[in-house]
Amino acid sequence: MIENLEELDQIVKKCSKCNLCNGKTKTVFGVGNKNADIMFIGEGPGADEDKEGEPFVGKAGKLMNQAFIGIGITRENVYITNIVKCRPPNNRTPLKEEAKACLDYLRNQVMIIKPKIIVLLGNTALKNILGDEYGITSSRGKWIEKKEIKYMPTFHPAALLRDEGKKIDFWNDLVLIKKEADENNWKI
Ligand code: URA
Repeated sequence: MIENLEELDQIVKKCSKCNLCNGKTKTVFGVGNKNADIMFIGEGPGADEDKEGEPFVGKAGKLMNQAFIGIGITRENVYITNIVKCRPPNNRTPLKEEAKACLDYLRNQVMIIKPKIIVLLGNTALKNILGDEYGITSSRGKWIEKKEIKYMPTFHPAALLRDEGKKIDFWNDLVLIKKEADENNWKI
């Protein structure tokens, strides 16, 4: 295990464990508080993230930021990352082997940051972290506790752009997270 995020980031920058590195502009390692109590995990970088090297800076990220502001979640207090650190071509879902190749980096990030809550944004994050038996529609909004981490699956913000009807569920799930953090005095 690598002990600090900067060193791990440098390793990810040079990674060639799968083919995604060939099509990327920048790796997207993660952003936020190194001691965050709450960690958000998305799927993988899109075009904007690939250009900037930061997760959730595009349309979906802007929508997520608006919800954060409305609910009282501070982007700088939490940590935001993805299942894969390089952009999949045409924003396709990462293949199982790409996610697998990248998952050790995410595990190492979790070991360093030690979050109390992990928010799984969409099916790719949910299935790669908790298992293929889970599905986002039935799992969202319900706490799943494993090895002293509370997982909250919710919709991916990009899904809200495609289906406005999902916004209220996403909002309600973030409210649950805010409540849990506040009750435990966790940074949010
Ligand atoms: N979608 C994701 O899953 N992650 C990002 O960083 C941006 C969009």
